[in-house]
Amino acid sequence: MAAEFAEGRRAGFRVVTIDGPAGAGKSTVARLLADRLGWRFLDTGAMYRAVALAALRAGVDLADALALDRLTADLRVELPPGRVLLGGEDVSRAIRDAAVTQATRFAADCVEVRSRLVAWQRAFAGTADTVTEGRDQGTIVFPDAHRKFFVTAADEHRARRRLAELQSSGAVVDFETVLADQTRRDAQDAARAIAPMKPADDAEVVDTTRLSVDEVVDLLFQKVAARP
Ligand code: DC
Repeated sequence: MAAEFAEGRRAGFRVVTIDGPAGAGKSTVARLLADRLGWRFLDTGAMYRAVALAALRAGVDLADALALDRLTADLRVELPPGRVLLGGEDVSRAIRDAAVTQATRFAADCVEVRSRLVAWQRAFAGTADTVTEGRDQGTIVFPDAHRKFFVTAADEHRARRRLAELQSSGAVVDFETVLADQTRRDAQDAARAIAPMKPADDAEVVDTTRLSVDEVVDLLFQKVAARP
């Protein structure tokens, strides 16, 4: 396990959680909010993706929870600003591949993997003020977070954003496929027996459909700043 995570300790650091479905602009907003606050940013989806990539590369049976757990225990995942390293290799692009995205569901549904990643996430946030982004950050991982947001947007809007993202990275896809994929992933994330995606009771739901990225970051920044 990466030393970066193993060192964690709670020392009164603040956590802002940003949960919500794919394509709502969470990652961009969370990263920019962290920059603006001068805090660290934690992309927890990247962790699940790194586990899936490692499993695919190792030829591990994705449905074998024990094998996935063993693999995860030996992984060295580091998240320096803007990058994802797996055993020292920069996999920032590789973890976004369609095959990895599909395989990530197995890591996300695996109780053993989740409990390891939750421990990493808490350790990461135990060493600095952190803006963390995922599905279960406000509900399970940081129930005592300083501020909790659930960022969402209209389905078509999210799918259009995702389509633009995919096309700009050279993928040939159409809107209907992206929308159907998104609907399937949302349903899987929300129906998961363990750590389903849902707003925490004390989270503020932010609909970004009609807002620019800058407007969302401004809004969240004001809300965090209002509660020092
Ligand atoms: O946010 P993302 O698309 O990179 O997340 C990849 C997958 O990991 C997605 O299917 C949801 C899952 N995930 C999760 O179950 N819990 C998290 N905290 C973050 C992501």
